[in-house]
Amino acid sequence: MIALGCDHGGYALKQEIIKYLDEHGLEYRDFGTYSTESCDYPEYARAVAEAILGGVCDRGILICGTGIGISIAANRFPGIRAANCTDCFMAEATRQHNDANILALGGRVVGVGTALKIVDTFLNTEFSHDERHQRRIEKIEEVSNHG
Ligand code: RB5
Repeated sequence: MIALGCDHGGYALKQEIIKYLDEHGLEYRDFGTYSTESCDYPEYARAVAEAILGGVCDRGILICGTGIGISIAANRFPGIRAANCTDCFMAEATRQHNDANILALGGRVVGVGTALKIVDTFLNTEFSHDERHQRRIEKIEEVSNHG
């Protein structure tokens, strides 16, 4: 199950991603926002982060104007690794190396065609399970847990 969230700057792209997920028969939960009315991206970052940490969803996609604010907000939650990607190389690498559980996108940065390819890459690339990548992720979580 994929958790979706966006602010007004990401709403149009989220609707395109929903079409893509529907066409591919992929299940999702849409945590909003549901219009282009101005809103606060941390609320949607939080909803998606909590859905993943609570086991309701396994991966998330968050979209704001740049992908920056919403990824910063999501990364405050220990256990969340949100990666703001602008191309497929980044999406592939962040799954293989960082085991990213949230893809962040900038609705005002990437075009729809590129964004959908990034989504496809993110959803279809597995973590490498390489010991060195696992070790580095554990070090990130150590910081979150102990300061
Ligand atoms: C909203 O105007 C914009 O600031 C937001 O979508 C995002 O780009 C923040 O990082």
